[in-house]
Amino acid sequence: MIVAIDGPAGSGKSTTARRVADRLGWLYLDTGAMYRAVGLAFREKGLPVTEAAATDLVPGLDVRLEPGSDGTRVALDGDDVTDRIRTPEASSDASRVSALAPVRAAMVALQRHVAREYVTAHADSGVVVEGRDIGTVVFPDAEVKFFLVADLDARASRRLVDLADGGPADASEALDTVRAELAARDLRDESRALAPLRAAPDAVTLDTTALTIDQQVEHVLDAVRRVRAPSAP
Ligand code: DC
Repeated sequence: MIVAIDGPAGSGKSTTARRVADRLGWLYLDTGAMYRAVGLAFREKGLPVTEAAATDLVPGLDVRLEPGSDGTRVALDGDDVTDRIRTPEASSDASRVSALAPVRAAMVALQRHVAREYVTAHADSGVVVEGRDIGTVVFPDAEVKFFLVADLDARASRRLVDLADGGPADASEALDTVRAELAARDLRDESRALAPLRAAPDAVTLDTTALTIDQQVEHVLDAVRRVRAPSAP
């Protein structure tokens, strides 16, 4: 089973997807981390964000996600880049490179491959996949689809806590700055030509502004239970 959780940054999708996967004992797949790793590769190599550069770069990149005790570890060409992809600069880079066709084609293929391998190796299991285009493009046949939204202020406050908590730096970044960054990234992700951030027509839209994490998780788990046992009350 595929559970697709899409939505803008700060909507609660990472925490929800990770916890749902933990509760079910399934794989959690953070597709944003893949785009972040590609964005870092562009920056490290000093490449322009162009289709031509992506065509040269992407086929040679080795992006891997490994489940770790404190979340997913991300490796780029064998180096652990888990912390380096979580800066505000990395967020913006990921958003910019994710609009390029060669990047999207490679990452979508990788996401489908990872999910297929997992469900083949683990009978009766599933994958909880979070991103922007999971329900619309990557897994349009996903059995469960959610689109999480929340007020911009709520999302900016959450992001500020993330940065202060585990983030490598920038804890002092003001709420206004975070809000402006999120709004700019939303706009770029929503307005790009390829696989824009959008709810699938059959996705359940969940406004998490006033929900607790536990409530968000229960909404998704309820939907999974209904698919697995459709006749249950
Ligand atoms: O979920 P995130 O904040 O880690 O994602 C970083 C960027 O990657 C996001 O701004 C747009 C891009 N992205 C995407 O285009 N498609 C996805 N499925 C996931 C992320």
